Amino acid sequence: MRATDQGDRANSIFQPVGVSADYARPPAGIDPDREKKWWRRIVPLLRARKWPFVGAITLSFVSLVLQVLVPNLLNQAIDKSIQARSVPLSHYVEWIFVIGIAGGIAGFSSRWLLFRTAYDFEFDLRNLIYEHLTAMSFSFYDRSQSGQLISRANSDIRSVQMYATFAPLIMVQCAIGVVAFGFMLAISVPLALIAMATMPILFWVGMRMRKVMFPISWVIQARLAEVATIVDENINGVRVVKSFAQEGHEMNNLADASEGVAWAYVKDSDIRARYTPAIQNLPQVGLAFVLLFGGMMVIQGHLGIGAILAFNAYLLMLQAPFMMLGMLVMMGQRAAASADRIFEVLDERPDIVERPGAYDVEHAEGLLTFRNVSFSYGEGPPVLNGFDLRVEPGETVALVGRTGSGKSTIARLLLRFYDVDDGSVSIDGHDVRDLTLASIRGNVGVVLDDSFLFSISIADNIAYGRPSATREDVEAAARAANAYEFVTALPEGFDTVVGERGYTLSGGQRQRLAIARALLVNPPVLILDDATSAIDVHVEQEIHRAFETLLEHRTTLIVAHRLSTITLADRVALIEDGKVIATGRHEDLLLNTPEYAEVLAQVEADVLPLDDVGVDL
Ligand SMILES: Nc1ncnc2c1ncn2[C@@H]1O[C@H](COP(=O)(O)OP(=O)(O)OP(=O)(O)O)[C@@H](O)[C@H]1O
Ligand SMILES: [Mg+2]
Repeated sequence: MRATDQGDRANSIFQPVGVSADYARPPAGIDPDREKKWWRRIVPLLRARKWPFVGAITLSFVSLVLQVLVPNLLNQAIDKSIQARSVPLSHYVEWIFVIGIAGGIAGFSSRWLLFRTAYDFEFDLRNLIYEHLTAMSFSFYDRSQSGQLISRANSDIRSVQMYATFAPLIMVQCAIGVVAFGFMLAISVPLALIAMATMPILFWVGMRMRKVMFPISWVIQARLAEVATIVDENINGVRVVKSFAQEGHEMNNLADASEGVAWAYVKDSDIRARYTPAIQNLPQVGLAFVLLFGGMMVIQGHLGIGAILAFNAYLLMLQAPFMMLGMLVMMGQRAAASADRIFEVLDERPDIVERPGAYDVEHAEGLLTFRNVSFSYGEGPPVLNGFDLRVEPGETVALVGRTGSGKSTIARLLLRFYDVDDGSVSIDGHDVRDLTLASIRGNVGVVLDDSFLFSISIADNIAYGRPSATREDVEAAARAANAYEFVTALPEGFDTVVGERGYTLSGGQRQRLAIARALLVNPPVLILDDATSAIDVHVEQEIHRAFETLLEHRTTLIVAHRLSTITLADRVALIEDGKVIATGRHEDLLLNTPEYAEVLAQVEADVLPLDDVGVDL
């Protein structure tokens, strides 16, 4: 199987497998201070994209200032060129023309920069979350629902991105409102004050809207995530749903959840329907006042006609920021709720971290020691309690115990998926907590009973742990796992793309590919956790024969329910009540330990009738 090993691997059985990430890493994280307001916590990420962002805002300010100049020029054109005829009309026409073009260019560039920044920011935030999720320990995934996590990585990111990039832009618009107000004051102070009379009401309406919108936007995000969870479970679990004919039940579940979403959205639009028209139409009321009082001032000769036109334009200009302010408020509510949910994930610390100065164990001999290990999942009951086991390099040990006795847990502790509560687990005498995670997982290969495959080609699935492997390596691993025949019988052979999770293959075929995948990495320690449960006894024996030649210098832990598998081991460890209660050769245990026969009879009865495997108890 190692016939094509490269020179540097020739005299070592371990080759580090981790592939280092190669993408534009997020330039910054979020502010770790949980006391800060959410938008202050994302400042480091925004700061990393500072220049295009500042450029976008500045240019949009420029373009708006240019827009504000136009009504004033119009006012002067009407008064000085059309009425008084003291300045040629072309003067103003040219100016307005030039300003229009300049404003257009500034507007285009600011948008171009802003959208760029927005999507860069979204990219960073998404990578940040994904990087974080990758670092999270198994205990986190035990607690989390994938639909929730998926929606956090999608819609929540989007709503934070929208706010973070558009809020400053809208602020600029509001600042322009101030400039416009300045121009109005310059034309006529009393008229400016009259025109603005409705603004405080507008502000009050905006504030009220903000207050009632917040809870509902939170509800929307939470319910969307609920729907995502149901859809996710239904799609992944479709085979179970269908086999129990529970489609109707699941549809009811989903309908309930979507009804919840619809209710929240309707509530949201209700509020918007109530407040938005007020926000939009109040400035029109202002316009009526302008017409009334301004018209009177023109009639009395205190004001030129151009001023009224200019006021009209300015008021419309003021209306936009106010309307946007309403939108900003709404977006802000949503973004705050989304940010909370994103931070909930980002603030979660992985339980399993490498300690400073963790080192690699490069070529493990394969000595495994569990010393007085106690362990329970979270707050649950103890699973292991005073568990002791020593496995010599090159030894093959079968773990035997009733279902739920903690056999898989032992494998997880060795891989450091979880940390022991007490005692220690070590490889070659190195406590796993002192080692780098990549080197533990590079040294310990594992085949689990649910052989998850990716929707990529069979060859790529086998090479998953060692993407650099040649086709010959892949084929050799497949041969050892007794998968070669069935793979080559497929129309596209090793290039066959398997369906999602490998569902286009049979359980036994999947298991064989999973075994090939583990073998290709060629780890000095191998754990087979029920790895052959779906493979029939004869094929299993062939696989084990292949193992025997491969396993010579390999330490192997086999979790097995079948006598045929157990007898392959040099030694059996019998697990009960969270500890090893007896260990020895299969035949000796059968003779000397009554519990062993009892447990065997029970586990075996679950799998196959005893005489089928031809072993006498
Ligand atoms: N992720 C988890 N979170 C909480 N409890 C768990 C978790 N995984 C396993 N357990 C519990 O720990 C105990 C031991 O589980 P484990 O999977 O190690 O058993 P096992 O010996 O491998 O069983 P089987 O032979 O059925 O595979 C069980 O009681 C189980 O309910
Ligand atoms: Mg198990």
